[in-house]
Amino acid sequence: MAKTKQASATPKQRGKSSKSQINELIDALNEDLAREYQAIIAYTVYSNVLTGAQWMKIASELQKHASEELAHAMMIADQIDYLGGKPTATPKPVKLSDKAEEMIRFDLDNETETIRNYRQRIKQAEAIGHYALAEQLRKIVAEEQDHQHDLATALGVDVPRVFEDGA
Ligand SMILES: [Fe+2]
Ligand SMILES: [Fe+2]
Repeated sequence: MAKTKQASATPKQRGKSSKSQINELIDALNEDLAREYQAIIAYTVYSNVLTGAQWMKIASELQKHASEELAHAMMIADQIDYLGGKPTATPKPVKLSDKAEEMIRFDLDNETETIRNYRQRIKQAEAIGHYALAEQLRKIVAEEQDHQHDLATALGVDVPRVFEDGA
């Protein structure tokens, strides 16, 4: 009964964040920033090349997504700077297709990947006690989930699950 697992004590002891934890977080945030740039480009292009009456509603939603992704990029770049890092200037590659449905599928896959990553980033931010970043990331995740929902609805598919690894 007196036996307590050693592991249970460790998370609370992370009062001071190690330099390597911060560097890891900076690198990961730069990956997030590159994904935000990718999203800005994809939504700007796709919203203009989508044709056909069935895609008009989602095309106007994509325009709104583009400006929200820009706000996310600004926030992430600001946080990278605050942590002592240098914001990247390179986006992740943007896939193109002649088919509207494929473009929206690319977006949906990217949003799912983005959400998965931000959920991990929230954990990293909390591990070093950077609660303000964790708070901002939560707001971003809520918007990414709206994007994911819009895209899944346009495609007529279920919203991909991202909750397997816990909230
Ligand atoms: Fe975003
Ligand atoms: Fe998004």
